Amino acid sequence: MSISIKTPEDIAGMRIAGRLGAEVLDYITPFVKAGVTTGEINRLAHEYMVNVQGTVPATLNYAPPGYPPFPGSLCTSVNDVICHGIPGDKVLKNGDSVNIDITVITKDGYHGDNSRMFLIGEPSVQARRLAEVTYECMWLGISKVRPGARLGDIGHAIQQHAEKNGFSVVREFCGHGIGKVFHEEPQVLHYGRPGTGEELQPGMIFTIEPMINAGRREIREMPDGWTIKTRDRSLSAQWEHMILVTETGYEVLTTSAGTPPPPAIVQPKDSVAA
Ligand code: MF3
Ligand code: CO
Ligand code: CO
Repeated sequence: MSISIKTPEDIAGMRIAGRLGAEVLDYITPFVKAGVTTGEINRLAHEYMVNVQGTVPATLNYAPPGYPPFPGSLCTSVNDVICHGIPGDKVLKNGDSVNIDITVITKDGYHGDNSRMFLIGEPSVQARRLAEVTYECMWLGISKVRPGARLGDIGHAIQQHAEKNGFSVVREFCGHGIGKVFHEEPQVLHYGRPGTGEELQPGMIFTIEPMINAGRREIREMPDGWTIKTRDRSLSAQWEHMILVTETGYEVLTTSAGTPPPPAIVQPKDSVAA
């Protein structure tokens, strides 16, 4: 098996999918406040995808081998939840930090996968710092993307920055190729050594979605078959973008009016698409 090179038609379809995925995050942003349940955010996003956009939530009933069907139209991962949190009757409260991860499928069958962190009210200094460093990690990884670079360059940049700040990188979950298939080759590890791994070529599309823990990197799986928490109950954060390898660098596909700008740590020249 190898990494698919997208056709111009695929790339056009993935630009649309990426924008629509990001626009669902924009739409729910004003509702992500203390007092709301994660289930209500799920309901609002579901209605928006299906009735306004005409997209389908990719996560709903998603059931890879060995997993029960996922019961949500998005993932809500609060505080020590690393990823795949199931929306439900949990009420968000002042000080919580939550990752919301949304994947749409467009009418043409393309996937738009992205996530952002939301801080509720006045979170701790540690929660803010973790979300910020994780955002920098994602962008430092993105800024490595260009033809001839290797997957290990991305992982190394992310791992170095996380560990330099006293945090740890989750090993069990990674970024992934994406297109008409939700999860395809390659696996984009968020740790590694420079100069190792597959060489990037124009037309590849994959996500970069580091999960960074404030404490130790080990995970715990919950009995619901999906929810993943930190073993030591420390906070965890994640951000996700979908990236196209261009002839000269990268293009972030999951962009919308509400996409946060790149962090100062990434040089402006590096952040210009293509
Ligand atoms: N959106 C997640 C990712 O970034 C996958 C969620 S699968 C689910 O790959 F079933 F948990 F929703
Ligand atoms: Co995602
Ligand atoms: Co993803």
